[in-house]
Amino acid sequence: MVRTKSVQMMADHLQRLTLEENSNPSAAVHFELLQTLDQLRLAVETPEETILRLIYQPPQNAALRTVMDLGIFQILTDKAHRMQGVSALQIAEYTAADEALIVRLMRLMASLGLCTTVAPGVFRANEKTAALTRSIAKDGIPCIYDLTIPTLSRLPEYLRSHLYRNPEDYAHSPMRWAVGQSQFEWLATHRDQQARFNSYMASRRQGRPMWFDTYPVSRLLNAKQPLDKSVLVVDIGGNQGHDLAQFRKAYPHLRGRLVLQDLPDVIKQTRCSESSIEVVSYSFLDKQPVRGARAYYFRAIFHDWPDHICQQILRNTMAAMIPGESRILIVDCVLPDIDTPLLQASLDIQMMSIGAGIERSEGQWRRLLQTVGLEITGIWNHSPGMESVIEAMHIGSQSG
Ligand SMILES: C[S@@+](CC[C@H](N)C(=O)[O-])C[C@H]1O[C@@H](n2cnc3c(N)ncnc32)[C@H](O)[C@@H]1O
Repeated sequence: MVRTKSVQMMADHLQRLTLEENSNPSAAVHFELLQTLDQLRLAVETPEETILRLIYQPPQNAALRTVMDLGIFQILTDKAHRMQGVSALQIAEYTAADEALIVRLMRLMASLGLCTTVAPGVFRANEKTAALTRSIAKDGIPCIYDLTIPTLSRLPEYLRSHLYRNPEDYAHSPMRWAVGQSQFEWLATHRDQQARFNSYMASRRQGRPMWFDTYPVSRLLNAKQPLDKSVLVVDIGGNQGHDLAQFRKAYPHLRGRLVLQDLPDVIKQTRCSESSIEVVSYSFLDKQPVRGARAYYFRAIFHDWPDHICQQILRNTMAAMIPGESRILIVDCVLPDIDTPLLQASLDIQMMSIGAGIERSEGQWRRLLQTVGLEITGIWNHSPGMESVIEAMHIGSQSG
């Protein structure tokens, strides 16, 4: 009876949020809607059902990875099949896979909501199928699966044999132990995967607010030095330069140079179409060569690394900054102390596995930055489900 009542209350709340999302959409309402849906599901499920749902997640990922290999979502969205759907027999003919195997894989895809079953053994594309043919899925699913699964499947063994010490040493990360390389070493020696990774990085945040939608860019414009010849933003570990290209598009008239930096192998593959962006090979484990920039921008960088490497990156950057004028901008998750969103808590375990990295809480960010002489001068966020923008400056240098 108590359970029924809480389910009803959540359903009512869900209805209110749905109306609000329709009339006044925002990232925060959307996030709350998803959180409430998850809670509602948990309230409806018996504990045993929850456990079974979790136990059988790995086959879902393996089947999805295989369907991506076979290019089946592409077939479903093809003009010839988009309306009527396509039979397992036809898919078998296109892919040279067994029809019986296709049926088994595709019924799971339909159960996951990634396509629709229109008749026994006949599958049709839906809204999710179309997204699965785009780079975020086409590159992201195989790359992240291949990069992480060999380590994640052995993570319990790693932690047991390391007496449950929190992985904090980059040289002895779980991935180094399981595979012999950490994530960026592995990517550098798997060129096709590096290309996929780059493409996934560029596509994964499409349609979501950018850092400059969240952060007041005017904070970068008040300084004694004129901007004409100086650098406005250096995007460090900026991969394809996608964030800088979007920034330039949003602020075409803003003076000041934009500089993209990443590892040589990544820079070689960069197809940065924006000619006004300077592209430079650089490792952030070395001294920062661009001096006095207004912003040293790091998106999804520090979560890859344990504190001792982050401190090295920060010190290399600080030596190039003008105290009081240069700012470090970090775009990463700031984990809440309670009710951590599932995606962020999952990313934390992934980062721990592939490089002894970590998703940090606000307290952990403050402590990390303070150890090198930086202080947080602001944190901006669109919704608790998204990355935040953290601004940091030399301690005591903020003019006001
Ligand atoms: C998770 S990706 C984030 C890419 C981009 N900032 C974004 O948010 O889309 C991490 C980036 O750090 C780069 N990287 C790794 N080690 C590096 C190093 N030592 N120096 C510079 N960049 C590095 C990788 O090549 C990759 O582009």
